[in-house]
Amino acid sequence: MGRIVVLGGDGFCGWPTSLYLSKRGHDVVLVDNLSRRKIDIELEVESLTPIRPLSERLRAWHEVTGETLQFQDFTIGEHYHRLLTLIKEERPDVIIHFAEQRAAPYSMKSPAHKRYTVNNNLNATNDVLCAIVDSGVDTHLVHLGTMGVYGYGTSGMRIPEGYLRVKVDLEGGHQAEQDILYPANPGSIYHMTKTQDQLFFYYYNKNDGVRITDLHQGVVWGTQTAETDLDERLINRFDYDGDYGTVLNRFLMQSAIGYPLTVHGTGGQTRAFIHIRDTCRCIEIAIENPPQLGERVNILNQMTETHRVRELAELISEKTGTPIEYVTNPRNEADENDLHVVNERFLGYGLEPTTLEDGIMTEVSDIARKYAGRCDRSKIPSTSLWRKVEAGQPA
Ligand SMILES: NC(=O)c1ccc[n+]([C@@H]2O[C@H](COP(=O)([O-])OP(=O)(O)OC[C@H]3O[C@@H](n4cnc5c(N)ncnc54)[C@H](O)[C@@H]3O)[C@@H](O)[C@H]2O)c1
Repeated sequence: MGRIVVLGGDGFCGWPTSLYLSKRGHDVVLVDNLSRRKIDIELEVESLTPIRPLSERLRAWHEVTGETLQFQDFTIGEHYHRLLTLIKEERPDVIIHFAEQRAAPYSMKSPAHKRYTVNNNLNATNDVLCAIVDSGVDTHLVHLGTMGVYGYGTSGMRIPEGYLRVKVDLEGGHQAEQDILYPANPGSIYHMTKTQDQLFFYYYNKNDGVRITDLHQGVVWGTQTAETDLDERLINRFDYDGDYGTVLNRFLMQSAIGYPLTVHGTGGQTRAFIHIRDTCRCIEIAIENPPQLGERVNILNQMTETHRVRELAELISEKTGTPIEYVTNPRNEADENDLHVVNERFLGYGLEPTTLEDGIMTEVSDIARKYAGRCDRSKIPSTSLWRKVEAGQPA
């Protein structure tokens, strides 16, 4: 079993992943600066589920399973020497990097939020890579990226797993073939930081031989995993607010409290989805299949199904009887888009996806309805605008 450092281990994906790996016998060290909990205070909102303070979570895990999770509280991208010392002392087989500001609407709220997201995310990623090289430790870095790096429109082709094979014309009628990173097309400041992460990975892999897997993940839905379900004190977070709530979790909660399902624009935007349980399994698969020394950055699309937003709303509306309300889209994006994504590699490794059709009602009844009393309805609308609104123009 391996030694694993989880950066961002208190977050929505990091917490269940840490428990999943600890349960399977790995030694896990969590690093987190609790910035996500502080953002809840800033936004005056709380996770719909009653997440416990981190020390209580760690105690509960030990009580329930006998396993110990270590924790260090510092800021990746700022406290470089703490990170370097941790890597030198722990000599982890794997470092999993979740420690970034991950909400697109939050990154677009104001100039201060744009600057925070860029500073936090880019410095975090660069410091992790720099410290790996500085430490001389041969570790495998697994990073959580996003499907959003590709943009949401293609010329009809399926989006490949990271690389695009291109043919270029040379002099003398010859042709050359080359794999390039799929052209980046960020739709928000948050997505832009993720596209720039890709260049850090490309560079440190080429220059220093760092072994890296970059997982281009879809929107994660669902709340609990087998491990977080073991005890109420281990419960995972569930964001429903206009900044951090992702579309499906927002619909689930809205249906639980009888609030109309708010669809932005025509709801023709297609998005890729994955259940939180499958996130954990994909990370395990990535750990078990590391790139070899000298191999290029390993990129996998971590998603299991795609849906148009209005189809999701219709599905939930049908099952729960909640009406749908079409509202002005605050984002700067096309009304309608198709998304065809290649995800054969995870399926080839044996991933058995949790489907939306199967899992959705469990989420409505076990989570959204159960904790509906904790919902602050005033926090549901998404008010972060992508562009300044010109006088007389729709937002
Ligand atoms: N949630 C999704 O739907 C989704 C989808 C695609 C990709 N991702 C990616 O997965 C990763 C994790 O997402 P999440 O939903 O768990 O987010 P989250 O905000 O719940 O978790 C991130 C954690 O990292 C910590 N953190 C942030 N910056 C830090 C820093 N500089 N130093 C130390 N700790 C720091 C936060 O306190 C938080 O606990 C992100 O990089 C995100 O881009 C998430």
